[in-house]
Amino acid sequence: MQGDQGLTWRSWRILLSEVFVISIAALKRNTAILRQLKEEAGCGLVLALKGFSCWKAFEYIRDDLDGCCASGLWEAKLAHEEFGKKVLTYSPAYNESDVAQLCEFTDQLDFNSLGQWQRHCEFVMAHPRFKSGELHCGLRINPECSTGSTPIYDPCVPGSRLGITADQLKGADLTGISGLHFHTLCEQNSDALATTLNAVEEKFGDLLRSESITYLNLGGGHWVTKPDYDRARLVQLVKDTKERYGVDCWLEPGEAIAIHTGVLRSTVMDVFESAGHRVAVLDVSATAHMPDVIEMPYRPDVFLVAEDGVGEPAVCFKGETYHLASEGEGVVHRLGGPTCLAGDVMGDYAFSRELVPGDTLVFDDMAHYTMVKTTTFNGVKHPAIALQHEDGSIEVLREFGYEDFRDRLA
Ligand SMILES: Cc1ncc(COP(=O)(O)O)c(C=O)c1O
Repeated sequence: MQGDQGLTWRSWRILLSEVFVISIAALKRNTAILRQLKEEAGCGLVLALKGFSCWKAFEYIRDDLDGCCASGLWEAKLAHEEFGKKVLTYSPAYNESDVAQLCEFTDQLDFNSLGQWQRHCEFVMAHPRFKSGELHCGLRINPECSTGSTPIYDPCVPGSRLGITADQLKGADLTGISGLHFHTLCEQNSDALATTLNAVEEKFGDLLRSESITYLNLGGGHWVTKPDYDRARLVQLVKDTKERYGVDCWLEPGEAIAIHTGVLRSTVMDVFESAGHRVAVLDVSATAHMPDVIEMPYRPDVFLVAEDGVGEPAVCFKGETYHLASEGEGVVHRLGGPTCLAGDVMGDYAFSRELVPGDTLVFDDMAHYTMVKTTTFNGVKHPAIALQHEDGSIEVLREFGYEDFRDRLA
């Protein structure tokens, strides 16, 4: 058996213990879906680097996408230097130096507040790339339409700092603005987009119909590569939006591009009992290497890889219970990391047998919003980064050492 990623774990005996492995085949499978979608909808589609920025994998997905969206100067530079193609930049706030550098290469520069735009508009509008039409500027709007269920991922919560509400926009001088941008979804289907577009029409429809607005960025959060995602509805919504307002439309998914494309391999370091719980301490950490497990929170799937490292890995049963194994559940272990944080716990999982030090565990779906968020908290070793190519071969791109930990701190 192998995970959704299409990774063949046979060769993993040769790998280092802590390592993120990205499957090129799985990435290409996702981007092929997105390419078809954007061609049918007639829109632009870029990779949100905040979700996945393993730039050595860009060469395998570049042809399917129109470029990248960036959360600020450094992601924009990475997009420009390593991906090429379009760079769409939006940040909650820029300073003068960010804007001066971004004006040199970004294609769209979206501002989060009227204050930010007013602070930078004189410089931007005087820039030769703005005057020649190579650089376009937009505003992030807040349609005040919550469709998700997790408040920390909801930019429409009352008091949100993300985007301009229709009220705030009333009577504003929008000279120089040619685009609007919203991002309100998170892991959602196209019904949530339909709801949001209705709110956008109600609050910003007149502005969108004005001659000056030429693009609308529909943000990310579209879980397009999920099997039950209604792609036909997304295509129709984009087509209708383009026609209704006479604008170019852009989508900027992150998760949909990198979901089910990589795993984090780890080794069991210690196993013991604590107040009725069987605890396994691993060499990877929830807080340092997969922080969304704690932040969101969620439980990743886990696999126990067969001892001999050859053939199929054993399946690990996902356990949601907080007690030792009851009949039929297998042996429940509380998996935790090697840091001092008491809550550095991935969850309780039932395995077909008792874990022992040296066992290999693989955490599923660790390519998106993981590698971009890692730290070396507690001086924990950063996992290596590897690609698995379509022929099954593994290329270790980067290993991290003590110097990486030391040098980042001063
Ligand atoms: C402005 C913006 N665009 C795009 C994205 C990508 O979203 P996702 O990875 O959920 O598709 C995000 C994620 O937070 C975002 O804030």
